[in-house]
Amino acid sequence: MLNHPKCHFLLSSLLFSLYSWNKATCSLGKGRDIWQQPKPDPTLKGQSFLHDTFPLGFLWGSGTSAFQTEGAWNQNGKGASIWDSFTHSSVSGSLDREVANVASDSYNRWEEDVKALEYLGVRSYSFSLSWPRLFPDGNARGQPNTAAVKHYSYLIERLLEKKIEPIVTLHHWDLPQVLQEDYGGWKNETMVELFEEYATFCFHTFGSRVRYWLTMHNPYLVAVQGYGTGVHAPGEKGGPATSLTVAHNLIKAHAKAWHAYNANFRTTQTGKVSIVLGSHWVEPQRGKAIDASAELCQESIEAALGWFASPIFGDGDYPVSLKTKLGALLPAFTPEEKLWVQKTADFFALSFGPNNLRLGQSVISYGQTVTPDLRRLLGWIKLEYGNPSVLVAEGGWFSEATVGKEDTVGIYLMKSFINQVLRAIKLDGVRVFGYMAWSLVDGFEWNYGYSIRRGLFYVDFSQQNRTRSPKSTAQYYREIVNDNGFPSDETSQETWQRKSESWVEQEEKKGRSVFVSTWCKAITLGKTDSFVCHKKTCGSLTGKGNDLCMLHLCLFLLM
Ligand SMILES: *[C@@H]1O[C@H](CO)[C@@H](O)[C@H](O)[C@H]1NC(C)=O
Ligand SMILES: *[C@@H]1O[C@H](CO)[C@@H](O)[C@H](O)[C@H]1NC(C)=O
Repeated sequence: MLNHPKCHFLLSSLLFSLYSWNKATCSLGKGRDIWQQPKPDPTLKGQSFLHDTFPLGFLWGSGTSAFQTEGAWNQNGKGASIWDSFTHSSVSGSLDREVANVASDSYNRWEEDVKALEYLGVRSYSFSLSWPRLFPDGNARGQPNTAAVKHYSYLIERLLEKKIEPIVTLHHWDLPQVLQEDYGGWKNETMVELFEEYATFCFHTFGSRVRYWLTMHNPYLVAVQGYGTGVHAPGEKGGPATSLTVAHNLIKAHAKAWHAYNANFRTTQTGKVSIVLGSHWVEPQRGKAIDASAELCQESIEAALGWFASPIFGDGDYPVSLKTKLGALLPAFTPEEKLWVQKTADFFALSFGPNNLRLGQSVISYGQTVTPDLRRLLGWIKLEYGNPSVLVAEGGWFSEATVGKEDTVGIYLMKSFINQVLRAIKLDGVRVFGYMAWSLVDGFEWNYGYSIRRGLFYVDFSQQNRTRSPKSTAQYYREIVNDNGFPSDETSQETWQRKSESWVEQEEKKGRSVFVSTWCKAITLGKTDSFVCHKKTCGSLTGKGNDLCMLHLCLFLLM
């Protein structure tokens, strides 16, 4: 980045000024260049699919979150979380009031989860701690629930025994209900302090064995879905003003936790701390990117990812486009806060999946299309935030519950996402160091309940023993991990080709229509992929998930 002529100029002029030079100021806004570059031509070799391997030591993993998988909602002294209350009450409205009291029962079956990881051969496991399990009253100054401390200690120990790196998230949405009741949850700035205390407890208790910490998962969804639209717990419909306040507190809470680690634990524990941020991706509709449409694309990404990433990875402040658009509605950081918030992450952790792409629809302007282009998004992050090292902390799509264990579409999407990461590394020089395939086991999918599944391992929620069975996606991921990517091995490609063809045949026998898009077949030169779209997916998702369904379809048309 220093080679950029503009940066040289900026740098030399700034050297004579009183401001301390911040390398991020020189790249913020550079992300918009990506839409000026021609989109990769899929007919060129390596542009639609790259046969190559990942850098040595690439951190393959899989992930879950506590509320989605643990179950045991009131076992061994656990307190209620806002998601327990939300799913138990009628606030969740027209949803089937599905609950996660047992979910995948991972609290009791964590050893089976470790076995699942061993099956995959991955080197890392991303999971979250349940704050209300550790502190039923939310107060980390008090005594922790010892059963919970033991549980997470055993899990971490077992993972390390198996040479699986724990990647630990402090907060994946399951806020102690009592903090919602006493303070109004994340609306209240007091939460910043409370989160710092909780984070400090976790660093102190588990930190000698944990090298990667994530303070929180996708704060965008907490702010927008939790407190703005009320689709997620705690189900508050406070609109944009409340979302903005919540986001402001979440950013400060994250920064505070990072500073706590930096000041008190970094030298002894030598770990890294970041925050998982989610993003959609957007392209101008048809035709070439002209300046105006590139500008709108930039604004769209700034309105979601940039909202959180610009303060933390940029200049400590919200993007200018947000300030202009929102005016006084947007809380302001003081100059001291800006200095204190910026650079509070040791790497970039990205979530890229259906939740963000779906929400992306609300931040696009006329003339834009949301597309699942992970490679371009990674390229944007590189340009915008000065080439940080990146962990894809959540990558993957979803399937309907009825798909079962033979998830051919899931395989196709996994292959496509991971190959996009490979191309971002090899062709665009993005410094991605790990990929967490989401998720390890089927679980409770938030407002979608159990109607969709994201696990590599199938869980039969009607069986008490919640047996984990590898889906075809688990088998496929295992091969990718074992090969460290996609070496040009014709036989393994042919195996998957055959599998997908036989799947199409089976589906047709069952009277379901499946079509192979000839256009897509053409761009992969008919070799690497048979491009299948399951029409049934859409029909049966009506009502509950039409928007997800549209994306599902558009995914096939655009990738
Ligand atoms: C924050 O919580 C405190 C303690 O309950 C309360 O007095 C205060 O009004 C709350 N502030 C907001 C903005 O909700
Ligand atoms: C789980 O329960 C089902 C039905 O009760 C049974 O068929 C299966 O063998 C059990 N699995 C294990 C691992 O115990």
